[in-house]
Amino acid sequence: MSELLTIDSISVSYGNIKALRNVSVHVDQGDIVCLIGANGAGKSTLLKAIVGLEPITTGTISYQGNIIAQASASGVKKRFALPGRRSASDSNTLRTDEIAGRGVALVPEGRRVFADMTVEENLDMGAFLIRDDDKISRKKEEMYDFFPILGARRKQKTRSLSGGEQQMMAIARALMSSPRLLLLDEPGLGLAPLIIQDIFEKIAIINREEGVTVFLVEQNARMALKASKQGYVMENGVVVLSDLSANLLENEKVKAAYLGE
Ligand SMILES: Nc1ncnc2c1ncn2[C@@H]1O[C@H](COP(=O)(O)OP(=O)(O)OP(=O)(O)O)[C@@H](O)[C@H]1O
Ligand SMILES: [Mg+2]
Repeated sequence: MSELLTIDSISVSYGNIKALRNVSVHVDQGDIVCLIGANGAGKSTLLKAIVGLEPITTGTISYQGNIIAQASASGVKKRFALPGRRSASDSNTLRTDEIAGRGVALVPEGRRVFADMTVEENLDMGAFLIRDDDKISRKKEEMYDFFPILGARRKQKTRSLSGGEQQMMAIARALMSSPRLLLLDEPGLGLAPLIIQDIFEKIAIINREEGVTVFLVEQNARMALKASKQGYVMENGVVVLSDLSANLLENEKVKAAYLGE
């Protein structure tokens, strides 16, 4: 299996808070990989760094063998500089829209749906990279087939959907751009166990049938480890364990700290 995403010793700080310290993560093409960790461990920060929403102060992030983020000498990056006006040290660092254009889609924590827009309008927002209207329509129909509840509610305002339905919509919105790599930030957050199970089943199908590689961040360690092949455990901004997920499910430390056994 070839490596799709390589995070090599990255650090991220918020002022004096070191949110990530020398974090390395590898995601092979075609796999589901998970990262588990408690509140505030740095999970969302890692996903934001991958899509270029937080600058890194050490290390590199590579995607499909190309560097997409590199720590600049000063450790400060001008993320919103105009194209063509980046400094030499930023030349390896892509903007968020460029990373999306290469096939990386993030479903953010808390879903971040547009509550006053309809389901259909939300899906249109996910198609911002597609120029062809017919293709957008086809893609939406595909999503309605895959998530029938969204098809039934396509003209409804998103705020009228349940939490689980909104999460499905957030995933569908990310899939509108036909990503190669899907990043999911706590898809089970705040949802009932049966609904979480539905969502994880959908994620498995997206991976198996569409060949989408998935990097999943979760506090629900059991669901995430069961759904994935490889797992990472993060504590206070540091990766403290990584192994096949099946091994992590049997690991005594993981059982005690994350599985309540
Ligand atoms: N914008 C920010 N400014 C300052 N500190 C931040 C910011 N975002 C996150 N942090 C801090 O960085 C650390 C990591 O936060 P992060 O949101 O990445 O954790 P997390 O693992 O996603 O947590 P949760 O499970 O609660 O979502 C925490 O100490 C948090 O308080
Ligand atoms: Mg988070």
